[in-house]
Amino acid sequence: MNLNTQLCNIGFPNPTVVASGYLGVTGSSLANCANKGAGGATAKTLFMDERQGHANPTILTFPGGVINAVGLSGEGIISAKHEFEKYRKLAPENPMIGSIGGRNLDELVEVARIMDEYPVDMLELNFSCPNVDGEMGKPIACDPFLTAQATKAIRKVVKKPISVKLSPNVPDIGLVAKHAEANGADAITAINTMGPGMVIDIHMRRPILTNKVGGVSGHAIKPIALRCVWEIYRATKLPIIGTGGVIKGQDAIEMMMAGATLLGIGSAILYYDMACFDKITDKIRDFMKEEGFDNVSELVGLAHEEGFDRDKLPKEY
Ligand SMILES: Cc1cc2nc3c(=O)[nH]c(=O)nc-3n(C[C@H](O)[C@H](O)[C@H](O)COP(=O)(O)O)c2cc1C
Repeated sequence: MNLNTQLCNIGFPNPTVVASGYLGVTGSSLANCANKGAGGATAKTLFMDERQGHANPTILTFPGGVINAVGLSGEGIISAKHEFEKYRKLAPENPMIGSIGGRNLDELVEVARIMDEYPVDMLELNFSCPNVDGEMGKPIACDPFLTAQATKAIRKVVKKPISVKLSPNVPDIGLVAKHAEANGADAITAINTMGPGMVIDIHMRRPILTNKVGGVSGHAIKPIALRCVWEIYRATKLPIIGTGGVIKGQDAIEMMMAGATLLGIGSAILYYDMACFDKITDKIRDFMKEEGFDNVSELVGLAHEEGFDRDKLPKEY
């Protein structure tokens, strides 16, 4: 069974990657995931400067999912450089994706330019966090035209492949993906958290999160993530990092059949710790054996009807 996966000419030993945000930017924690079965890792989104984020409590589980309002806390990109170098040494066979954010377009472009020089294999543009207020108001990925503008500006300064991370909180995610594709994206990551949502403490009679609302992830959003990946697969020719509710092997196979080449794994780490990666890849391997597949890439897009051919999609939009 061959689980080797190529995305943007980058080779991953299997299709799982740590989703952005779960283990910060710490090189040793991310490398630990890779050494325990993850194919690669995405670092937490970095901005130019250190960010405080929201006050605790910032993350809660509820039956079926996770809700968070961390608020993209963390150090600034310059002081995080050594973590990428450390990862490279500890997990040389597992690609690293550097995630970038910015309060405005100028900051995004500057952070992208810096990240491009770091030892990362590709960049992920986080245009889709639902619980931070940028100067642009709503997340960029909630507007196809802002997505086009920001992708284009970053493409101009970045040589490495870029994946645009999209939000499910839009009426037509395929349209947003097309705007990213037409402006230089090499891949799409979908989806970021849904919502925002809310959990209330009935005794305190108040929302539990200090920020009151937060992005929803985990099993609860899997059907939405599958539908988004399906729509992006039909709207663009770009490879997709399918993220959202991939907790077990069955979820991973569904996600690939919807159209994902790689699988972003986030909430599963909360439930199964690092063991989630081997659990998922073991199940994929068993399924391939039972169903007679040799290469994992054969699963990608299988849920689309026979005869549907992405290569025949029109080039210009
Ligand atoms: C605590 C937490 C922090 C996150 N931080 C980031 C982040 O820094 N950048 C980003 O693009 N997504 C972030 N996400 C979103 C995840 O990368 C992922 O898109 C989402 O959780 C859906 O995947 P899942 O259901 O496997 O968790 C975060 C999610 C959680 C729960």
